Amino acid sequence: MDNFKRTLITTALPYANGPVHIGHLAGVYVPADIYVRYLRLKGEDAIMIGGSDEHGVPITLKAKNEGVTPQDIVDRYHGIIKKSFEDFGITFDVYSRTTAETHYKTASDFFKTLYDKGEFVEKESDQYYDEEAKQFLADRYITGTCPHCGNEGAYGDQCESCGTSLNATDLKNPVSVISGSTPTIKKTKHWYLPLDKHEPFLKQWILEDHKEWKANVYGQCKSWIDLGLQPRAVSRDLNWGVPVPVEGADGKVLYVWFDAPIGYISATKELTPEWEKYWKSEDTRMLHFIGKDNIVFHCIVFPAMLKAEGSYILPENVPANEFLNLEGDKISTSRNWAVWLHEYLEEFKDQQDVLRYTLAANAPETKDNDFTWKDFQARNNNELVAILGNFVNRSVVLTHKYYNGKIPAMSAVVEDFDTESLNEIAAIVAKVQTALDQFRFREAIKEMMNLARLGNKYLADTEPWKLIKTDEERVKTIMYVSLQITANLAVLMEPFIPFSAAKLQKMLNLEGCTWDDLGRTDLLPAGHEVNKPELLFAKIEDETIQKQLDKLEATKTANEVAAKTVTPAKENISFEDFTKMDVRIGTILEAEKVAKTKKLLKLLVDTGIDQRTVVSGIAEFYNPEDIVGKQVSILVNLAPRKIRGIESQGMILMAEDADGRLVFIQPSEEVKPGSEVR
Ligand code: 2FM
Ligand code: ZN
Repeated sequence: MDNFKRTLITTALPYANGPVHIGHLAGVYVPADIYVRYLRLKGEDAIMIGGSDEHGVPITLKAKNEGVTPQDIVDRYHGIIKKSFEDFGITFDVYSRTTAETHYKTASDFFKTLYDKGEFVEKESDQYYDEEAKQFLADRYITGTCPHCGNEGAYGDQCESCGTSLNATDLKNPVSVISGSTPTIKKTKHWYLPLDKHEPFLKQWILEDHKEWKANVYGQCKSWIDLGLQPRAVSRDLNWGVPVPVEGADGKVLYVWFDAPIGYISATKELTPEWEKYWKSEDTRMLHFIGKDNIVFHCIVFPAMLKAEGSYILPENVPANEFLNLEGDKISTSRNWAVWLHEYLEEFKDQQDVLRYTLAANAPETKDNDFTWKDFQARNNNELVAILGNFVNRSVVLTHKYYNGKIPAMSAVVEDFDTESLNEIAAIVAKVQTALDQFRFREAIKEMMNLARLGNKYLADTEPWKLIKTDEERVKTIMYVSLQITANLAVLMEPFIPFSAAKLQKMLNLEGCTWDDLGRTDLLPAGHEVNKPELLFAKIEDETIQKQLDKLEATKTANEVAAKTVTPAKENISFEDFTKMDVRIGTILEAEKVAKTKKLLKLLVDTGIDQRTVVSGIAEFYNPEDIVGKQVSILVNLAPRKIRGIESQGMILMAEDADGRLVFIQPSEEVKPGSEVR
């Protein structure tokens, strides 16, 4: 491990606004867990840090939608997420959360240190503001059209369609997510991390000194740097997050991407009073396990923060993965297009390893990959059951059958094939090790399975069940060889499929082996007794897979229906609230287009109370000459508003369908103008 004495592994902190799914597991937590288990087996000092990311706008929006507090939301999901990880054997040394007290203090102090060192640039900038909600609109509080790809649902911080990271003011046709109104622009003060200032350092550190990073990671960093780094705001106008700890910062919190990575430090503090050993000594190797959408934050922003602070080490490597899709579609929490870990375990009880195996074997290491239930079934039935399970079972069953469960001594009857097979163990272990050292988990798990393949083929080729009648001495050798392969497997499986490894080790009465024992051909010495065989894996039937496919199909249908009905129901209001609206039937007396606009008509309406002017956005649906004389519904007590310089006194009520088409709401028979609608 070069000159390093210990390894600090951080894993991306998942947002606590939903449960975790297979994409999380495949991209980050299975690879990280394989790696830390591997290091622990080698006896190295290695810790794995995790926790929930509990700030950010999506959490506040979800809380608002549900009429609960953000704290309620994160309390709910932190528990679910933590349990899912435990259930899947993800062995965090600490799993914390960013609403923890230690974290508030750590993040706050970190900001203060940079502030005092003059590492921030303070700047007033234009920010969207919702006049109705009296609130600045940070990040996802604003949507609009992406200036790059034209996606109409882009967010204030990012377009999910083309992946571009945006400033809210870049959006065309911006709309407030809170009130649906067009926001105004107001000045507000924020603190910026001047990435431009750190650019020469980052260029050298990444592009020159870390050419060994994975191509996808290096490539993304290079294109960011080549584009030229800009200062990034590290504060937000929001009331959920770590308060900005300087005077005059009321109503401002640290940007979630500033506080979240500091969460790794806070969690380490919770784990051990010796946390500085992991974060501040040059002989610690820090690794960030993340998904590709987090690369810029872990390779550019966080290192710049750590560098600016001055006393921390920087990551040695960032083995980021690409994305995992599900049955050909992007995994999506909001569209419920996912395999949720807690649901998987309800339906595939005690079969954590099947998912761990499938996800590692098919990990999106170099490109996006697809999870399909058919592949999951095939990996289980054709590999775990037919190769690994079958081999292990045969070697233990035959040991009981021929030798009452006692390992036979290797006899003098040995053929080259036996010796070659024994030697092959160490060769395979070496391949697994090389792959793991280079974060190539797919290859590592394939080589692990090759050890089972070796054993399976060895038994199939030697056929001890036939030889036992003619050559008992050779069978002793064959069984000895098979059992050493089995024992090596039991240890080698541990980082990848730990539940089955533990089961097999118990079956073999094999205890306390480390990585250094791998390759040994005497792990189970002659005379050692093994327990009764138990099956490690069970075949998964077509019906079980079909059930999962049907479930996804039902999700697809539900999404299609939901897409047609557009907006969800609003929160309940009281009858009193309702009676505040004064809606009348009026008759349109005059109509004309508002000059230089596409959508607006200026109407003169007889409301029964008076004749008044109303500006209405219906020009794309009605010609002025066609609507004079029509009866319409009008909200008469809406406070007058100036629209394009014309005072609009009320609002014509329209029905709007999912495609945005507007039609008048009219009485089914002619009534007197001024009739109330209620
Ligand atoms: O992308 C995400 O899910 C973020 N919550 C990851 C944060 S990683 C770290 F910086 F905490
Ligand atoms: Zn876009």
